[in-house]
Amino acid sequence: MCGIVGFVGKKSFDEKGGVNGAEVVVDGLKRLEYRGYDSWGVAIPGEKKILLHKAVGKIGGFELSSAPELKGTIAIGHTRWATHGGVTEINSHPHLSADKTIAVVHNGIIENYQEMRAKLEKKGVKFRSQTDTEVIPQAIQIELKKTPDFKKAVRNVLNELEGSYAVAIVVEGGKKLIGARKGSPLVFGIGKDGYYLGSDVPAFLKYANKAIFLDDLEMVEADEKGYEIINITTGKKVEKKITKIAWSIEDAEKGGYPHFMIKEMLEQPMVLDKTAATSNVELKKAAAMIKRAKQIWVVACGTALHAGMYGSYIFALNNDINLRPVSAGEFPYFAKFVGKNDLVICVSQSGETADVMEAVKSAHDSGAKVLALVNVMGSSLMRASDYSIVTKAGPEICVLSTKAYLSQVAMFMMLSYELNNKIAAGKKQLKAIKADAEKILVKDSLAKIKKVAKGLARADNIYAIGRGVNYPTSLEACLKIKEVSYIHAEGFAGGDLKHGPIALIAPGTPVLVFVANDGPKGAPFGGAAKEIVSNAMEVKARGAEVIGISYENNQVFDRYFAVGDHGIFTGIVAIIYSQVLSYYIALEKKLDPDKPRNLAKSVTVK
Ligand code: M6R
Repeated sequence: MCGIVGFVGKKSFDEKGGVNGAEVVVDGLKRLEYRGYDSWGVAIPGEKKILLHKAVGKIGGFELSSAPELKGTIAIGHTRWATHGGVTEINSHPHLSADKTIAVVHNGIIENYQEMRAKLEKKGVKFRSQTDTEVIPQAIQIELKKTPDFKKAVRNVLNELEGSYAVAIVVEGGKKLIGARKGSPLVFGIGKDGYYLGSDVPAFLKYANKAIFLDDLEMVEADEKGYEIINITTGKKVEKKITKIAWSIEDAEKGGYPHFMIKEMLEQPMVLDKTAATSNVELKKAAAMIKRAKQIWVVACGTALHAGMYGSYIFALNNDINLRPVSAGEFPYFAKFVGKNDLVICVSQSGETADVMEAVKSAHDSGAKVLALVNVMGSSLMRASDYSIVTKAGPEICVLSTKAYLSQVAMFMMLSYELNNKIAAGKKQLKAIKADAEKILVKDSLAKIKKVAKGLARADNIYAIGRGVNYPTSLEACLKIKEVSYIHAEGFAGGDLKHGPIALIAPGTPVLVFVANDGPKGAPFGGAAKEIVSNAMEVKARGAEVIGISYENNQVFDRYFAVGDHGIFTGIVAIIYSQVLSYYIALEKKLDPDKPRNLAKSVTVK
């Protein structure tokens, strides 16, 4: 939550070839807006004062030409998802020291800020904001009285902070950019024109494709001549590996589409193709960890948890392996049952989700191994895990997770086939699923979904039901609908309906019914399919409008969306209909599907 960006040019802004830091930072903030969009701000250290520009709301529409004073070789910026202090210009970052010589942007939560603030106030420091962040520049200013070496003073203050932070710091008249992290992500980019800081790689991908993923308690200091990384606790120099970023800037741009959400949904066939091409070596290593484990836990949040739940059905049905999915936030209650021979599979798009990171720590404390299915290379999760497979979604910018979900479920599918030594069959099946996904994403099909979405946009409640693999499909479908359209939506297991939820069905209530053929091959509506169709009849008898997403049509469906019969993997295709439905419902309601209210893409605080 919150995105930070920093830049220091290799040439002064005034020299020929020098780059305007404000331009780099504003561009970076626009690309990081998915991390928070309550307010934003930029700071540029000048010779005599720090230039500050802040605003409430999204940075999206801001043009640098409207603030021509924003120029400089060094700049830092922030896009905020408020935690401490309301959404106001004063609370937006960058925050300055009382003497306005030090500017700081911060992502994370300083847990001991109240104690620090009280201590500083006793020394006469006047605070301007209600944020936890402001203690950082204020404390640095006071520390500089004792420790005139700026870098040392910053380090001393960072060592005092409890909680989590990724910070970028500049000082008036200074030529250096400082970045540091503990518990929140920070990547240091190396480009031909300068050095960059970003909460995520897309912040600077346009300018640099080499990066250093800072680890906790590391601090980088960069100027036009070079950079140095030190350990914050010891002050000692650290040698770090430079990573070449595999993503291209086009992957992180809208590319002519009106929203990232539609672009990313349309990329899903390609994502399935890339997943089918996952290296056998990776799959074998992960499969070996799975085979060795006594108990296997799957820990994730939100959409990634739904993917993990789907994975648990795949493993149960295809491999007779029991995975125990647990929401990362609830994992602490079960952590005492994790043993040293267990495996914890963590699933995450960002690889930065705070609850997931805590689960990794707790798994390691129990001696268990951690396998990550993670989309962001170099993320905290990837680095903290014993082994990780990078899922093949590419950069996902829309706050709603769509293609990452598909890539995660498809990766569970590949692992399942690998465990059965049938990887060639798995690849073939995934190709067939991809071909089917493509059919949903063509013009005519999209138009049909849009028409149904128009009607759904008027609903107060939307429900979805499924059984087996399609129970998580139902949960995920409704998460998408509620996140993007603010319509109340709930997914249920078909079997649970009569235990309460059926009371919610009133005449006209839309119910999505997901049907997968998980019964004997070739049998019409075999296995759970028969039962979910019966559930559809039950809701229809109470007046529901039944929207079937199924491999076979049935008279119970008022509307029908067709998917191919991929057995227990049918949900991989079926979910696409509900993603697209959600998108068009949001458009119908004139909402921004890329940035739903109150949400941020990476939930880096608990
Ligand atoms: O980055 P992660 O996959 O760990 O994020 C987990 C959830 O925060 C995320 O899936 C969230 O539920 C999305 N808003 C879903 O669209």
